[in-house]
Amino acid sequence: HPENLFGKDRVNSRGFDLRDPEVLEMIEQARAPWASHQWQGGPLLAGDLSRDGQTETVINPARPGDTVGQVGQSTPADVETALSNARIWDAPPEERAAALRRAADLYEEHYAELFALIAREAGKSQPDCVAELREAVDFLRYYADFASADAPRGLFTCISPWNFPLAIFTGQIAAALAAGNGVLAKPAETTSLVAWRAAQLLHEAGVPAHALQLLPGEGRVVGTALSSDARVNGVCFTGSLPTAQAINRAMAEHLSPDAPLIAETGGLNAMIVDSTALPEQAIRDILASAFQSAGQRCSALRILYVQEDVADKMLTMLHGAMDELRLGDPWHLETDIGPVINAAAKKGIDDHVAAARSDGRVLHRLKAPSRGHFVAPVSIRVGGIENIEREIFGPVLHVATFKAEDLDKVIAAINASGYGLTFGLHTRIDDRVEHIDRHLHVGNVYVNRNQIGAIVGSQPFGGEGLSGTGPKAGGPHYVPRFRAVPFTRNDG
Ligand code: NAD
Ligand code: ALA
Repeated sequence: HPENLFGKDRVNSRGFDLRDPEVLEMIEQARAPWASHQWQGGPLLAGDLSRDGQTETVINPARPGDTVGQVGQSTPADVETALSNARIWDAPPEERAAALRRAADLYEEHYAELFALIAREAGKSQPDCVAELREAVDFLRYYADFASADAPRGLFTCISPWNFPLAIFTGQIAAALAAGNGVLAKPAETTSLVAWRAAQLLHEAGVPAHALQLLPGEGRVVGTALSSDARVNGVCFTGSLPTAQAINRAMAEHLSPDAPLIAETGGLNAMIVDSTALPEQAIRDILASAFQSAGQRCSALRILYVQEDVADKMLTMLHGAMDELRLGDPWHLETDIGPVINAAAKKGIDDHVAAARSDGRVLHRLKAPSRGHFVAPVSIRVGGIENIEREIFGPVLHVATFKAEDLDKVIAAINASGYGLTFGLHTRIDDRVEHIDRHLHVGNVYVNRNQIGAIVGSQPFGGEGLSGTGPKAGGPHYVPRFRAVPFTRNDG
């Protein structure tokens, strides 16, 4: 039952077992035809496309010589066409739910193409591609269960980031459609082809053209236009805090005061490892939390607080484990860590690491391939226990040590950042788990495991404070926010 978070009837997608050599062989063969395919994407409108739109060429962030395809950019005329032709999806709820479930099946059928496109456009490793597809499929099926005859709000603008080009793009749209809204989707500039292919599959599954239109283009142009038009009844956004604030301002000026902004932003996520933690388990989870997806997850671990008594041992083990990570082209199935998204992202992270190097604060650093936008995973010492000042969106782990008696100061330092997305804790003291959980203002707390990869329907995901507005994605309160009914904030 949809209102039951742990409902017995609901099953998440099975994904792919990448430890099985036969599965790896199957994926390898199925992806082969897409190895040098070029996709030609662009706006998908319920009216005529203008002829004067520019075209952007998409290059693989891991391989400068690999052109992934071209994507047409939406013009102001296209935005106007989309806004004037957009309609709510007034089909019965069962019909809407059936189309979303069909889309989930289509995504799974087209897994090989989607894996190839996500790897080549977004630079995601194969395990990340599997997780991305699973999450997208889970969002479609989970939100389909919430389709109801309640009135929709009207027209939703959905603005998504590049780091989950399929999952978050799909999740926002699926929720808005499940509630019966019309959707104007603005994907991230760097991953518009994944979005374009996904939108095609949603249409093929039965979502009408007027209920879902796709408008690739620059955030400051197309995104602004779509969040500052009075015909829009709500905006769903995932991305950085400054962009969420800009959208909030635009909405305040141009939209009806009751139009909601559902925003998920970044975090300065911490993990505490105390002296009772199991070292091997903690190291495995630090590694995944900080470096998987090249650290390009909003949920990723940014600052590790390790208790002074065990710090030397933990860091020696951590740096040994880092040396085992395989950096490289995400097309290769054995790659653990791929590139960052583009040259600008690489430069920003490299500059941060260079500053730490010149201060003598780099503890351990791997070597990155010289071609492509690669950043080597690195650990950096920070003095004191203050949280870092800004989100470094890459494979950079900051490390601080604390004395047992200073635990509450660490909690206060984490809270002082104002963000509150994810938090990890490794301890075997039950009272400590309860104490930290009670005093820390964070959306998702993970105990004795990694702090990434929330599972739809089981681990609703979203932050507090500067990290987001709620309600949590993948939880029972999400779709109701897209309906025209009174809303009680309750993140579940
Ligand atoms: P971003 O804010 O630069 O861009 C996100 C989207 O907003 C893109 O589609 C972009 O084109 C659009 N945009 C940019 N300026 C706009 C404007 N003025 N008006 C309207 N739209 C505009 O973020 P990003 O670099 O794509 O993503 C990385 C950020 O997203 C990180 O901060 C990360 O923590 C956050 N993130 C959060 C979550 C979450 O669930 N909390 C998930 C993924 C990413
Ligand atoms: N839902 C994503 C995660 O948990 C952002 O990593």
